[in-house]
Amino acid sequence: MKLEQVLHMIGGDGETNYASNSALQKTVISKAKPIVEKAILDLYCITFPKSLSIADLGCSSGPNTLMVISEIIDAVDRRCHHLNRPSPEFQVYLNDLPTNDFNAIFRSLPGFHEKLKKEKGRDFGPCYIVGVPGSFYGRLFPDKSLHFVHSSYSVHWLSQVPSILESENYIGLNKGHIYIAETSPPLVHKVYLEQFQKDFTLFLRSRSQELVPSGRMVLALVGRIDSNPISRWCGYIFELLAQALNDMVSQGIVEEAKADSFNMPVYLPSIQELRGVIEKEGSFHVDQLEIIELNWDQNHDDDNPNCVPDVMTSGNSIAKRIRAISESMLINHFGTAIIEDLFERFAAKIAGHLSKEKSKVSNLVISMIKKDEDRLVASF
Ligand SMILES: C[S@@+](CC[C@H](N)C(=O)[O-])C[C@H]1O[C@@H](n2cnc3c(N)ncnc32)[C@H](O)[C@@H]1O
Repeated sequence: MKLEQVLHMIGGDGETNYASNSALQKTVISKAKPIVEKAILDLYCITFPKSLSIADLGCSSGPNTLMVISEIIDAVDRRCHHLNRPSPEFQVYLNDLPTNDFNAIFRSLPGFHEKLKKEKGRDFGPCYIVGVPGSFYGRLFPDKSLHFVHSSYSVHWLSQVPSILESENYIGLNKGHIYIAETSPPLVHKVYLEQFQKDFTLFLRSRSQELVPSGRMVLALVGRIDSNPISRWCGYIFELLAQALNDMVSQGIVEEAKADSFNMPVYLPSIQELRGVIEKEGSFHVDQLEIIELNWDQNHDDDNPNCVPDVMTSGNSIAKRIRAISESMLINHFGTAIIEDLFERFAAKIAGHLSKEKSKVSNLVISMIKKDEDRLVASF
């Protein structure tokens, strides 16, 4: 299954849409803000381009879509004021898969432009914003046309489930699971890792061709802080979803063969795995790498001892979050009839898990600089 034909976050205005269930992603964007600002200002203040080209890859559709773009524009505009220079023109490219709700983004643009005009005054910009439908696992932009690339919560999506897991002879290899789990055979981790290495290499190669020399890229993705592929924290959420599916199989609601052939097209890399691909591909220096650890439940505040969230409420809100991102794939594979039941069971599994242990998501934020080819050639 090619992910780009199926995957989309739930759009529209319903209770389960991505826009209402992306608070965790919003927190990651807020916490990564200093890294994004440093990267864009380092870049801008070297060359002061008259027109600054920025791409956000995997922008989705919701309150987060224009959040990073606003932060980047604010940072550059403030620096220009400080230096008493005119602000540059901003050329903004919002990319996602063609199945994304681009119409909702386009409808929000007049309000966004109005707000910019009010806040920044007449001398600002202008800011041109366009949508770019297509997979970031391949070229999206002309050679050396971008100054800055940003992507949040998107690069852990693979281009496809590792093909061996969908091939006739190997169906059932990961029986009872939908991602790498404790009892998955080692081959399962091997093929997931290989798919990630292949996809991420293509991602880096494509961006290195599109970025100007010394162009910058900041990526935030879910990952692992240890080398153990079976993360008790991040990947475990998929194990709970698998358990809910397994219960439905044993009750005859879901066909066993259908469950055996479903696997999630995501990979949560360790820091070493991420760095390994970047080093091997060779086009980027890593400037900064930060880990942001967040509770699965965004209502759970570690700093407030009086905050004891109800596990069932947490279970429901985490289940809705996972539903907003995975429903399109589940419907494609199992049909719509099982979805409500599946997510009710999943919410109860999460609640059961949270009543025993607290779980976190490890987010990796990595800031990279494109190597200067001229300098590379000169150093040979
Ligand atoms: C969880 S959303 C993150 C959206 C937003 N950046 C945020 O932080 O809230 C992940 C997005 O990545 C997109 N995506 C996944 N694979 C992609 C690919 N190969 N090319 C472009 N977009 C992709 C999905 O369609 C989805 O909209």
